[in-house]
This record gives sequence, C-alpha cells and structure tokens, in this order.
Amino acid sequence: LHASGSLSPDSNFEGRLIVISNRLPVSLKKEENGQWTSKMSSGGLVAALSGLKSTSFLWVGWIGTEIDPEDREYVKKLLMEKHNCIPVFLSEKLANDHYNGFSNGVLWPLFHYLPGDLDYDDRLWDSYVEANQEFANVVLSIMGSDDLIWVHDYHLMLLPEYIKKKQVDARIGFFLHIPFPSSEIFRVLPCRKEILMGVLNSNLIGFHTYDYARHFLKACTRILGLETAPNGVYVNDKFIPVGVFPVGIDPDKFFDLLKQDQVQNRIAALKKSFEGMKVIIGIDRLDYIKGLPQKLQAMERLFQKYPEWKGKIVLIQVAVPSRQDVEEYQRLKKDVEELVGRINGLYGSLGESPIHYLFQSVDSVELTALYNISDACLITSIRDGMNLVAQEFISCQSEKKGVLILSEFTGAAQSLSGAVMINPWNTEDVADSINSALLMSEEEREEKHNMLFNFIIKHTAAHWGNGFVRELYKASYQAAQITSVPK
Ligand code: G6P
Repeated sequence: LHASGSLSPDSNFEGRLIVISNRLPVSLKKEENGQWTSKMSSGGLVAALSGLKSTSFLWVGWIGTEIDPEDREYVKKLLMEKHNCIPVFLSEKLANDHYNGFSNGVLWPLFHYLPGDLDYDDRLWDSYVEANQEFANVVLSIMGSDDLIWVHDYHLMLLPEYIKKKQVDARIGFFLHIPFPSSEIFRVLPCRKEILMGVLNSNLIGFHTYDYARHFLKACTRILGLETAPNGVYVNDKFIPVGVFPVGIDPDKFFDLLKQDQVQNRIAALKKSFEGMKVIIGIDRLDYIKGLPQKLQAMERLFQKYPEWKGKIVLIQVAVPSRQDVEEYQRLKKDVEELVGRINGLYGSLGESPIHYLFQSVDSVELTALYNISDACLITSIRDGMNLVAQEFISCQSEKKGVLILSEFTGAAQSLSGAVMINPWNTEDVADSINSALLMSEEEREEKHNMLFNFIIKHTAAHWGNGFVRELYKASYQAAQITSVPK
C-alpha cells in the first residue's frame, strides 16, 4: 500500500497540511535599524485554515518582495518560528513577470471573460513556468510522505504536475479561487494544454460553483479529448474528482468586532454624520472585474430618474488599491475618479457629495462599522469568483436588515438567494433595483436577511476548509489504494 498506516478515509485527517498560495499571509519589513518585523494578515484563507479540525499546517508562498541572499536564512527562521510559513524566494524580475505579467496580465483577464485584454508573450509564459518550478523545489524539499498538499489559485496551476513529476505518490489538492471560464474562452489560451495538464496532476480539483466545475470538465474534453463524468475526469485510467466547495467567511470575527467599544463608538459617529440619509456601501478592490464604472453609472441614472433621492442617499465606495503596477489598473483608477467627480459635480451641493470615494484600504473597525450602518450593499462585479463582501455585509446587519444588491456574475450569486440580483450592464435595472431596495418593506427585508444570515453562519470559511481537506484525504487515500491493486 502507498497509503501510510495512520490514514483511513473514515476519520478526519490528522496529519500535516502544506498550504501553498502565491503570497504568504505575512507582511515583512526590514526596519531602518536592520531589524525585521513581521505581521500575519487576516484573509479568508487564514480564517479557513485556523478553523481546520485537528490539522497542523505549514504555509508556503512568496513573501511579496525580493530578499537579499544574506538575509534569507534569517527571514526563513523568523517566518517558520513565528508563523509556520516557508518563503519561496523569487528575484524581483521573475516575481514581476510571474505575478503582474502572466498571472494578472494574461490569466486574470481571460478567466474573467476579457480575452480582448490578452497580452500573451512567450517570455511571460517562461516566467510562469520558472516560478511554478521554484515553488515546486521548495515544496519538494520540505514535504513528507504523509502530508497533504493544498495548492491555491491561478498563479500556481503548473505546480501539481511539477511536484508529482518528482514525487509520484504526493497527495495534492488544487483549488481555483477565480472563475473557470467557458471552454470557448479558455481555448483562446496558447498554453491551454499545459495549464490543464498541470492541474490534472492533482488528486482533487475544487471550484466555488457548479458552473466553474462544468466549464473545466468541458475544457478537458474539448482540448485534451478526455472522458469526463459530472464529478470528475479520467486521466490515464485514473479518476480525478472535481468538486464544488463554495468558500465562506468567519462570521464570528465580525460578531466579536461588533461587541467592541471602538466599533460601537465608530458606529455612533457614522450614524450621526449620515443622519436622515440612506447609506449604500461598496467595498471593492480597485479592479476592472468589480464593475465600478457600471456601479457609478447606475448611481447617476438613479439621480436622473428619481430626483427625489437627491441629498438623501450617499454611496460610500471604498476602492482598495490593488495591482497598481499593471497598466489597466492605472487606467481604471482615472476612469473611476472622473466618474465620481462628474456625479458629485452634477448631483452634489455645497458641503454634500452623493459619492464618498476612498482610494485606500480600511481597517476592520471601520469596515465593520460601515457594514453595520448601511441600508444596502451594492456589488456590481462583471465577473467575480465568489465575492465575500456580500457575506461580510450580511454578518453585520442583524439590526438593520439592509438589502444586499448583488451582481448575478459573482460566484456568491449562486448560493445567496435572499439577495436582489442585478445585471450590472443593465444600468436602468440597477438604478431601479437600488430605488426599490431602499423602499423595501421591513418584513421583506427581514425575510431576505434571515435567509442570507442562516446561510452564511453555516457555510463558513472553516466549513469550506474542512470540507475540502476531508475530500482530499478521501480522494488521495482511494488513489493510493487503486495504485496498489495489481492489474
Ligand atoms: C483574488 C485572487 C487571490 C488574490 C486576491 C487579491 O481573490 O483569487 O488569489 O490574492 O484576488 O489579489 P492580489 O493580487 O492583491 O493578491
């Protein structure tokens, strides 16, 4: 048997999990006095992993900056001792071509149905290959035969293959956090076969929604000629399960924050500032997939069509800076700023702006307070793998029971049936939906909120993490059994 004695598909996995994502969830800084400081950040993945049952884990990833060779040993020790993290060191050029160039310049737009922006070039592809190889070298140097390996996202789609090449019985799960597009879009990619084969070296492949899984399976059939079933694909007589695991949030984090005095004080202050107004909240990374121009155009249409709202509604739009080294993101920033200026110019008055635009990230106290005081949350993504802002808003709305207005092009739309669904391209309809959301009766708001709330407290980040690891454990155990059966 390849499977070790301690494994059994009926029990929870109790061994070590190696999580690999492009970026480590740690910010690292060398102070002027030469001392290094590090801080763990709190993303969705961190929440999911801290909720894993009886599993110890190591995290492998790039640290986000180039580290001088003489500092590497020290940084490695610090990250391991303080955070259980193992860095992959990449030169600035390689990291730039892999992250900004291929991952965010080629895969990101294509997977979000924007093939027109495809900026493919063999040099960038070579960097993607090289960076994935660097990750594989690090993983291979630390992994043990009982470890489960969980590879995350589009930056690392070749990694399962590179690990398996050297370690055939490695147990690898791959999860894609962004949409997998229709095969009609995916097949545009010159390296489409390599990408699919890279991922197919996993023991379990996971997506947020049925549609993404279906698109992936279809691509396997059309591009590689493989036989598929609704729940997996056959590769060289082996069945690779493909599953749907919608990620969630850690709602307790928000419930705890809401109990803090600092948050309550901020809530009181915000309520006072916006007294008598309806507040719509928008929290997005400044990314073209988030549909910010569409959101602003809908606001403009709202003021044209329903002038009675003038001076009575405010949209607080937080645009978190993101990927500012990529040209499209710089262009988007300009376009959004122009639109905000135009709408405020036309529909504001002295001392009053209908759009409060913040190009900055906000801390968890401010974020929680903003979610709490808002009457509606407006999400207009033109494509979005999941979108957790939707769930964060709901977790903070137990008193107000505000309305979630959600683009049907988000992964979240497939499970959040209590939301008001919109097509962000239909400006007229979005404007009408905002108007009716703000006029919705208390009973209807309460009914919708309860439906959404019950969903998000059950389908948490920890539920997602545990579900994936359990399935990976089962799948890799079964794969080990199968390889041991003589033909
Ligand atoms: C998406 C991706 C993540 C990524 C995040 C932020 O959610 O799936 O992998 O970390 O965007 O993007 P950034 O480039 O800032 O890491």
